[in-house]
Amino acid sequence: MKIVAFGGSSSKNSINKKLATYAAGLFEGGDVEVLDLNDYELPLFSVDREKEIGKPELAGKFLEKLESADVLVISVAEHNAGMTVAFKNIYDWASRQKKEVFANKPLLLMSTSPGKFGGKNSLEAAKISLKWYGGNIKDTFSLPSFNENFDVENGTISNKELDNALKDIIRNFDYELNS
Ligand SMILES: Cc1cc2nc3c(=O)[nH]c(=O)nc-3n(C[C@H](O)[C@H](O)[C@H](O)COP(=O)(O)O)c2cc1C
Repeated sequence: MKIVAFGGSSSKNSINKKLATYAAGLFEGGDVEVLDLNDYELPLFSVDREKEIGKPELAGKFLEKLESADVLVISVAEHNAGMTVAFKNIYDWASRQKKEVFANKPLLLMSTSPGKFGGKNSLEAAKISLKWYGGNIKDTFSLPSFNENFDVENGTISNKELDNALKDIIRNFDYELNS
């Protein structure tokens, strides 16, 4: 079973990438591939830019990675109560090549931030958006106060209660293709 995971951020030390990596590793028997959005950096999307450069190969490669997954684990970062430009940009470019960007693959959608709301606004925004673009969201999880609740050295959630909540979600995960 292939798990494709990424953080919805281009930060080098993305906390969402760390959370997505941890969660992906909790799926039993999963072969995990973690993507880095820096590998999919494109000019800011606009219809004019699209006329100039057409369908960028990188967006096609991003779509292929999502298509190759049995399960998607995405943790969206929050900038100004919404999804980051880095994630939205590759998402927009990809959606012009294929409407079902997230390929209806069973998806665990997450978020985290250093704040106590754990990037929940971005999670909600992603929930609304992704479901129209092949996002088969099976469950969601938000980790509040990342710096207090995540052990960066070990790459694990340090708060036992929150860790158990995530493990429960993964134990009960619905692998059906369509919700
Ligand atoms: C421009 C900007 C806006 C931000 N806005 C929010 C916000 O609305 N809510 C929040 O919880 N954190 C916000 N943050 C803090 C981010 O959650 C924090 O930088 C986090 O590390 C981003 O996730 P990442 O490390 O995966 O990129 C913001 C950070 C930046 C740089």
